[in-house]
Amino acid sequence: MRLAVNIDHVATLRNARGGNEPDPVTAAQVAELAGAEGIVCHLREDRRHIRDRDLRLLRSVVKTKLDLEMGAAEEIIGIALDVVPDLVTLVPERRQELTTEGGLDVAGQKEFLKDVVKQFHGKKIRVSLFVDPVPMQIEAARGVGADVVELHTGEYANARKERDIQECLVALEQAAKLGKSLGLGVNAGHGLNYMNTGPVASITEIDELSIGHAVITRAIFVGIERAVREMLVLVKGVPKGSE
Ligand code: PXP
Repeated sequence: MRLAVNIDHVATLRNARGGNEPDPVTAAQVAELAGAEGIVCHLREDRRHIRDRDLRLLRSVVKTKLDLEMGAAEEIIGIALDVVPDLVTLVPERRQELTTEGGLDVAGQKEFLKDVVKQFHGKKIRVSLFVDPVPMQIEAARGVGADVVELHTGEYANARKERDIQECLVALEQAAKLGKSLGLGVNAGHGLNYMNTGPVASITEIDELSIGHAVITRAIFVGIERAVREMLVLVKGVPKGSE
């Protein structure tokens, strides 16, 4: 199973100050050096985090695989066709949401999505559809010509009762098996963290996990001690004995 790291929230932090730091492109390079097998970013219509400049730079520096998450809006489709990521992952996008909520209703917009998939295939871009782990949507994804389904793990991540968690895991496993049996690649993601990733990672039919928020927030805590020590050296001068 591969890990693809979503670096959107590095851009969120950068945008909070209106400057250039931290740069999500640098974050992508460090993530790849650490072993990430793919980089994911979401160019939203509202440009809340990733910007056009980030996407174009990512395209030129990412060495593993660039997965562009996006809503199927005309403007973003045009940009994607121009930038040519390795994979596009189509997600539903609503202006007011905090993050992607719910999977794409593929079954309800087959003709539209068939046309979108065709446009990407014309540029040799593989297409993934972000769907809830329900058979109807996975079969519809196959029907519109998608190459990959990304199973939405949000309901699993939000479940609190053990019985609900187990039910969600069964649904994810069955969905992954169905996807594979239809010849689709199977990715999964959303809300996965250091506590809940293990059971999903043990579903052998899943090829790749897409994880963002947990990795970026963890980076703060594993990095803060060193960051403070480095600043202390500047504030207090070089520590005695190390001149
Ligand atoms: N996959 C998709 C389709 C998403 O929209 C997101 C959120 O951007 C993720 C994976 C990553 O979710 P998280 O940031 O919770 O790890």
